[in-house]
Amino acid sequence: MIAPWWQAGVIYQIYPRSFQDSDGDGIGDLNGIVQRLDSLAALGIDAIWISPIYSSPMADFGYDVADYCDVDPRFGTLADFDELLAQAHARGLKLLLDFVPNHTSDRHAWFVESQASRTNSRRDWYLWRDAAPDGGPPNNWISDFGGSAWEWDGATGQYYYHAFLREQPDLNWRNPAVQVAMHDVLRFWFDRGVDGFRIDVLWHMIKAADFPDNPPNPAWQPGMGEMHRVLQFHSADQPEVHAIAAAMRDIAGGYSATGDERVLIGEIYLPVERLMPYYGGERAEVHLPFNFQLIDAPWEARALARLIADYEAALPPGGWPNWVLGNHDRPRVAAKRGQAQARVAAMLLLTLRGTPTLYYGDELGLSDVAIPYERVRDPRELREPGLGLGRDPVRTPMAWDASENAGFSTARPWLPLHEDWPTRNVAVMAEDPASILALYRQLLTARRAHPALAIGDFALLDSAGDVLAYERRQGAQRLVVALNLGAQVQHLDLPDWAGGCPPLLSTIPGPAQIEGRALRLRPNEGVILAPA
Ligand code: NOJ
Repeated sequence: MIAPWWQAGVIYQIYPRSFQDSDGDGIGDLNGIVQRLDSLAALGIDAIWISPIYSSPMADFGYDVADYCDVDPRFGTLADFDELLAQAHARGLKLLLDFVPNHTSDRHAWFVESQASRTNSRRDWYLWRDAAPDGGPPNNWISDFGGSAWEWDGATGQYYYHAFLREQPDLNWRNPAVQVAMHDVLRFWFDRGVDGFRIDVLWHMIKAADFPDNPPNPAWQPGMGEMHRVLQFHSADQPEVHAIAAAMRDIAGGYSATGDERVLIGEIYLPVERLMPYYGGERAEVHLPFNFQLIDAPWEARALARLIADYEAALPPGGWPNWVLGNHDRPRVAAKRGQAQARVAAMLLLTLRGTPTLYYGDELGLSDVAIPYERVRDPRELREPGLGLGRDPVRTPMAWDASENAGFSTARPWLPLHEDWPTRNVAVMAEDPASILALYRQLLTARRAHPALAIGDFALLDSAGDVLAYERRQGAQRLVVALNLGAQVQHLDLPDWAGGCPPLLSTIPGPAQIEGRALRLRPNEGVILAPA
């Protein structure tokens, strides 16, 4: 059986403000992405997911949508989008958009109407509630960006709910008219030819109908950010969300009937047992509920082995796994694990069983960039400063070459570049066979050449110390992946069949050392072994 593209392929996330500026305003845009498609094809990825490009006041940099069916002028036009899609497809690259169904911008025409009066026909498109008897908010729900999740509207004398900024009112997905309107948005883009969507905060979409208080979080500490004061028992992950996801899948399925499958990926930050239901039960839901576990996992061989085994064991029949090392909201892998282990992490991401999502810049080993106070842009940082919750450090411009502003823009970029951009950039690193970029390319080439890596079975191997080892197998093809997660030399006893196998690839230049069944791993080394 041939695996569908979204199982065998690798997804690459672009944060469009920071990828490539084509019109000299210091902000990336769609034409800029077109200019860099050849570079992406050369890297060897299969699909691009672009964070939101829709019309937006940019209170949350595009996650506050004012018109779902248009492109923000900062990013270009609908015609530019069509061109990008055509150019991506011409190179064999799929293109996924970011669907933001939980909330709109407060400038969206729907909300403007909803806010106009209590009797407006769109009043019930959002979540309006009377004040509590003391005049305060209807319950204790806290915005993910800090503060009450309720905003008072003096003109109509009610509060509205916003899980994020007050400029991002939550839609009322219990209202069938909202469902119809948002389904039309999916169709609008599917009709243009997109290959799927990443769905923003899917688990937030339905709240408990009677809006009870959330329980306090006994483990809360101030450094965690205010949102964690309460446990989001009633404001997220409600049973009714599954019918919502299934309806979206039905729409995607309708388009998949002609041509390649259209894929849905759900952004869901939940523990594994609560994540799995989003694959669907009797009705299919999303193809890939994002698995973010590697981002915060303890970087320790036994702990990772357990995490991987538990995740594999929890998958429902037919559920295809996926893995993520970073995104536009979380610290970069190089910042968390260091440069040496960022290479090992790359090998892990691209050799585990399941679809990998790669965050732009991680292929350069980009780390979090310290943002001077006067250049902070992220509302998350501005609202709760100094806790390390801000996301600007992971959204800095991509570095393409050693020319002005790293080839990103002719103008001052909207966020500062990393300091070592004159050497940490695509052009320089592409010439260096020892660079992390070269390693990413080799790993992606190896995945393409070895179906066992892309879609094969997975089995952990016995290992000790800092070694995480596993086997991938597809038909007669078998490979061993052995990762040294520490900075000391480690040893692994290879299975009989792999004794004497030559290394296919190492994260460190120079030959891996194998004698019979004994593999010696250098500090911070990962290797893939394959029979000659
Ligand atoms: C999740 C997105 O990834 C994040 O960037 C955004 O701020 C929130 N959802 C709100 O849309």
